[in-house]
Amino acid sequence: MRAVSTPNIALIKYWGNRREDWRLPAADSLSITLDRPNVEVDVQPSDAFAVRSFDLAGNENPQSEKSVERLKKHWDLTCAYGESIVHAGIMPKRVSLDIRSSIPPSIGIASSAAVFSCLAEAYAGLMGGTKHLTREQVSVIGRLGSGSAARSAMGGFVALENVGGDRMDAARARQIAPASHWTLHDIIIVPSREEKKVGSTEGHALAATSPLFTARLKEIPRRMKECIAAIEAKDFEKLRVISEEDSLDMHRVMQSQNPPLQYLSDDTHRILREIEALRTNDHLEVLYTMDAGPTVHLICTETSRNAIIAFAESQKNCTVFKASAGGGSTIV
Ligand code: DP6
Repeated sequence: MRAVSTPNIALIKYWGNRREDWRLPAADSLSITLDRPNVEVDVQPSDAFAVRSFDLAGNENPQSEKSVERLKKHWDLTCAYGESIVHAGIMPKRVSLDIRSSIPPSIGIASSAAVFSCLAEAYAGLMGGTKHLTREQVSVIGRLGSGSAARSAMGGFVALENVGGDRMDAARARQIAPASHWTLHDIIIVPSREEKKVGSTEGHALAATSPLFTARLKEIPRRMKECIAAIEAKDFEKLRVISEEDSLDMHRVMQSQNPPLQYLSDDTHRILREIEALRTNDHLEVLYTMDAGPTVHLICTETSRNAIIAFAESQKNCTVFKASAGGGSTIV
């Protein structure tokens, strides 16, 4: 079973869980699914659980013991969930995974979201695909491996929503609008290719140690509402205000956790200052948002795209990725 998927970029961020082992998020979140870079997986029934992973050039890129363990745990959770929604014995006993990724790891463009949504798609395929599973259920399988992966199960503008209760499927994705609703681009500036020291999984688990976390949770329902309204009305200025407020708020939570997580670098802050000046002077529709790393995502409209690419490419010692809103995970 072969599937392909892509990362997504959150406008209302997911940070902190109400239940760690199932990645039930403490609050709702919302993102744009991107059309690239791609991850492809090939899942085959096998005698033993095995993982091989390859980079863009096709070179084998051995996974750490920790990430194989995470993939295995996700497989076990998927089997438990699959058996509960389809029937016992629906899944092969063990599988081997071939993962091909064009995403450099740990640079803040959500490689885990692409990998686990891709696996979710392939595992759902093994369970009979659309015959047995809804898109929401595919998103739940993704979420069991990486919280944000739930959102890449659908295309365009996607919310990850808590539906209440303490069940594996108590948080699932919902498409707000397809990618064709509003042409938006993500111009991604990567100032550093250094692997980050603390990953999001460890970070989520300590979110509640921040004295700002409770206040953040209180704000999210309002922000979700405003963000959805801005998307429905294609109101870029409204989307900008709410997304930047939420991204900066998440980073304040991260920075005040114990131990503190400082993902933003001097380069990040410099790029933000420059983009603020540029958009004021040139009236450009562009907003910034940062995940768990120094990478700056510049979301912009079609009319601003060329100017934002020129700005990004003028940054010294940075890597630039260009993506647009895309369709989400699928079987190939
Ligand atoms: C800052 O989904 O990467 O990118 O479940 O441990 O894989 P895990 O966490 P992850 O967390 C994403 C955090 C974020 C914000 C977001 O994408 O919403």
